[in-house]
Amino acid sequence: MSVPNSPAFWNRLANREVPEGELIPERWELCQYPGVGPGAEILGDIGGRRVLELGCGDGSNLLALARQGAECVGVDFAGDQLNRAKQRPGAEDILWVERDAADFLIDQPDESWDFIVSIFGALEFSDPFRILPQVRRALKPDGALVFATADSHWLWQRDLVPELVDSELLWPTRTITGLAAWTAILHEQRMQVVWNRGVGPSEQISAHIIWAERGGRPPLSQVLDDIPRGRGETTVAPC
Ligand SMILES: C[S@@+](CC[C@H](N)C(=O)[O-])C[C@H]1O[C@@H](n2cnc3c(N)ncnc32)[C@H](O)[C@@H]1O
Repeated sequence: MSVPNSPAFWNRLANREVPEGELIPERWELCQYPGVGPGAEILGDIGGRRVLELGCGDGSNLLALARQGAECVGVDFAGDQLNRAKQRPGAEDILWVERDAADFLIDQPDESWDFIVSIFGALEFSDPFRILPQVRRALKPDGALVFATADSHWLWQRDLVPELVDSELLWPTRTITGLAAWTAILHEQRMQVVWNRGVGPSEQISAHIIWAERGGRPPLSQVLDDIPRGRGETTVAPC
């Protein structure tokens, strides 16, 4: 069954009880759970770099990057998520935009962002044929799209655990999941995966962190090479 994506679901999620401490940003996590994904070190020195987060939610990740001197913009179509972000210390250093991520990108000048990031965010829930051409166009020539995407088999298990969300709420359907599908679609959109890291699998998470850059299509043989190396460090390190 396909469940449509809408701000209503994410607003409801934003207003749930949050465990104490969850609002404190400690470091940029390319994962939703502290200490699980790689941190901001993979981006290198981000002082003065322009970073756009698609589906920034409550802003914890972006705030950590802004503290390191990046010029940050967070886009999310769920106003209640952004309200939580705006209450955090340091929130005034970031521009928060309540808007659909693809619509926002369409208005961005060519080659204007160093990093476009999305941590289980809007990228996974958007039409890839609409959003990826805009991501590619808006990235600087040496810029990168860095994002986290959940693995399908883990999502399937997770959706069976009703206490994670109100039982009457169903998670919106992600449009693309998994390294292989993302690698193929990025290739189709003239972007290439230059690095990826598998996170998990564990009961808590099974996901991939993907670093993709603009560029012509790599030879198909390279794409096919990338796919079986789904877990662990792979290909060319970006920094
Ligand atoms: C799973 S949450 C992740 C939030 C944040 N990146 C984090 O790691 O905590 C997904 C976020 O993406 C936002 N989102 C989903 N689809 C979107 C879209 N099409 N445009 C803008 N935001 C979207 C939701 O409102 C939600 O805040």
